Amino acid sequence: NKGKYEHYMQKEIHEQPESLTTTMRGRLIRGGSCKAKSVLLGGLKDHLKTIRRSRRIVFIGCGTSYNAALAARPILEELSGIPVTMEIASDLVDRQGPIYREDTTVFVSQSGETADTLQALEYALENGALCVGITNTVGSAIARHTHCGVHINAGCEIGVASTKAYTSQIVVMAMLALAIGDDTISSQARREAIIDGLFDLPSKVKEVLKLDQEMKDLAKLLIAEQSLLVFGRGYNYATALEGALKVKEVALMHSEGILAGEMKHGPLALVDETLPIVVIATRDACFSKQQSVIQQLHARKGRLIVMCTEGDAASVSVGGSCRVVEVPQVEDCLQPVINIVPLQLLAYHLTVLRGYNVDQPRNLAKSVTTQ
Ligand code: UD1
Ligand code: M6R
Repeated sequence: NKGKYEHYMQKEIHEQPESLTTTMRGRLIRGGSCKAKSVLLGGLKDHLKTIRRSRRIVFIGCGTSYNAALAARPILEELSGIPVTMEIASDLVDRQGPIYREDTTVFVSQSGETADTLQALEYALENGALCVGITNTVGSAIARHTHCGVHINAGCEIGVASTKAYTSQIVVMAMLALAIGDDTISSQARREAIIDGLFDLPSKVKEVLKLDQEMKDLAKLLIAEQSLLVFGRGYNYATALEGALKVKEVALMHSEGILAGEMKHGPLALVDETLPIVVIATRDACFSKQQSVIQQLHARKGRLIVMCTEGDAASVSVGGSCRVVEVPQVEDCLQPVINIVPLQLLAYHLTVLRGYNVDQPRNLAKSVTTQ
């Protein structure tokens, strides 16, 4: 049931304040006079000790689920102190990459039925790793075959393009980082700030959804383009990949997410006065580096659309020449949840304006159960 919406993708983008609320329901503890703020993931509580002792955490997924894990990687590394590596499921299986008994492998999948991810799970089970699932589908193959896990509880996702599952997956993996780091006194203030940020997140997502019309206007400008680049780094490298995946998948426009730190190692050659480029430059430890990226792209006459923190338009728009999209600020590690929303809206509007099928893009299936 699409309710007041024309498409499932549109509905699922707009229901993110609610889906995030259900993802966090019963799992965040507000704390009080003698109790610290904390996180309770029922499915993991008996396994946290094993996870903390593991030599490595390996995230495994495909498509958007991989991108969600990439978004959560920095906070997991920070709060756990354990090396976190990333594997695209098919690539791990192709390489038969080393997986050890001392590893915690985390399988991220909205459907819980993706063939590549399931095959990687089988492989990790054979190699004796602890296997943790993060899935939206109770009773799915991944939920059943993992040793333990967390249901993201985002509600049924129907649009082939994953939107609300992406933001809920990031939130669950941030909660996973908080739960693993729970026994470390030195990071308590940081963890409490993130928990406060999680409580506020649904209302901030509601705010960023007000950019709907602005993103529709932007889509009108981009309707006939052949290509769109998206530059991000740090917490928002994943946002660049995921924004580009959305545009490619539904609007059928070539789009590439680029790690801004790699700009001079190739992508800069593409920049001219015609190619539109989105640069994500919201406030975090990488902000000044992104300001310098903007200046260098501007020097090559790049057609820039800059996503920045509210109030920062003047600090990012060189010579007042860029188009600026301002978004609300949240705790740095949660910012990818906010920043993806305008790009989801952009992909949605571009698709509708270009006359393509939003909910069922050509050649794609919601759940990829064959290889
Ligand atoms: C569980 C209940 C929820 C109830 C809550 C009350 C279910 C599905 N969830 O939620 O309805 O409100 O207790 O305390 O009944 N698991 C895996 N692999 C996965 C995902 C999950 O093995 O990929 C396992 C977990 O380890 C856990 C179980 O499935 O044993 C349920 O996980 P989850 O729904 O996340 O647990 P709770 O949030 O505690
Ligand atoms: O169900 P899963 O999360 O395992 O699916 C993985 C990918 O097939 C999926 O995210 C795909 O990339 C989406 N269509 C992206 O929107």
